[in-house]
Amino acid sequence: MTCGTGVLSPRRATGAAGGALRSRRPTAAGREEPLPYPLDRPRRLRETPVLRDLLRETRLSPDDLMYPIFVVPGKGVKRPIASLAGQHHLSPDAAAELARGFRADGGRALILFGLPDRKDETGSPGADPDGPVQRAIREIKSAVPDLLVATDVCLCEYTSHGHCGVLAPDGRVLNDPTLELLARQALSHAEAGADMVAPSDMMDGRVQAIRKALDSAGFERVPVMSYSVKYASAFYGPFREAAQSAPSSGDRRGYQMDPGNIREAAREAELDLAEGADILMVKPAGPYLDVLREIRLLTGRPLAAYQVSGEFAMLRAAGDAGLLDYRAAALESLLGIKRAGADLILTYLAPEYLRWRRQ
Ligand code: PBG
Repeated sequence: MTCGTGVLSPRRATGAAGGALRSRRPTAAGREEPLPYPLDRPRRLRETPVLRDLLRETRLSPDDLMYPIFVVPGKGVKRPIASLAGQHHLSPDAAAELARGFRADGGRALILFGLPDRKDETGSPGADPDGPVQRAIREIKSAVPDLLVATDVCLCEYTSHGHCGVLAPDGRVLNDPTLELLARQALSHAEAGADMVAPSDMMDGRVQAIRKALDSAGFERVPVMSYSVKYASAFYGPFREAAQSAPSSGDRRGYQMDPGNIREAAREAELDLAEGADILMVKPAGPYLDVLREIRLLTGRPLAAYQVSGEFAMLRAAGDAGLLDYRAAALESLLGIKRAGADLILTYLAPEYLRWRRQ
């Protein structure tokens, strides 16, 4: 029996159940055990900056972050995105310019989203070897070869109707016919030189379809980071304006997950691993930290979390309104995501984080 010894098992030590430890309880002899205070004083270790620094359990570093950017066709384009303060629509040359600065500041990884100049029913412009994403990959990789370039793989930016898959005449999103289109897009990214592809569409079987397409074209070394646990979230609002990818009718609840579900998150993660995903992702991050923790405890595989546009926009808006210290709150939000179990965080805060570190 460890009762009363003050020793917690490591698994217990992270949970809420630790509170029951060494409570004032009668022993068999009818005596009361002493309460821990004044012997136990956690504040001792919070007293000085050096103690706090030495004993901090979770730390952020530039190696934790991946920065989402939005690329558009053209040359010399750097247009502010109204819904996402500080973010821009960038032509491939401007994206390469940004990449150079980001890397010089200590940044390690980007993820690219594309806005094409034409859309169609099946999202075929997404696989155009001369599309903005494919061009930006080539320009960024030649300007900054050691910056990791990942790409978002999805149809919603490229379909005329804004859904993440092809539509049946009655408006349903068809699963299996979409897989081939996603695989084609992912392959075009790999051919342009992408270091990693990240499907965000939530069709069943897409990881396997993409893995097969990559492998049969000789890209077996390109990892798949799967948006495995992606919820139908209201927090994507500012992104959809930025990516011009809002569905023209209906919503995404027929393929993205219901916000109330967590057992289903485990199932999605398991399936994606079985299909060959190298990295799993939970998205959004902040409102779903319990889900992130759950997946962290279920698997030892690499895990990413996406702090999405709405989470970023809320921090900015609250900071701009003078309601909180933007920088401190932003850093705390990232730390919370890492503490919950993320190995990697996709965040619009990445460049600011790098700047803050140097100050
Ligand atoms: C594309 C996609 C979305 C986001 C990432 N990939 C939007 C959506 O699913 O509607 C959201 C990212 C963000 O809000 O920052 N499917």
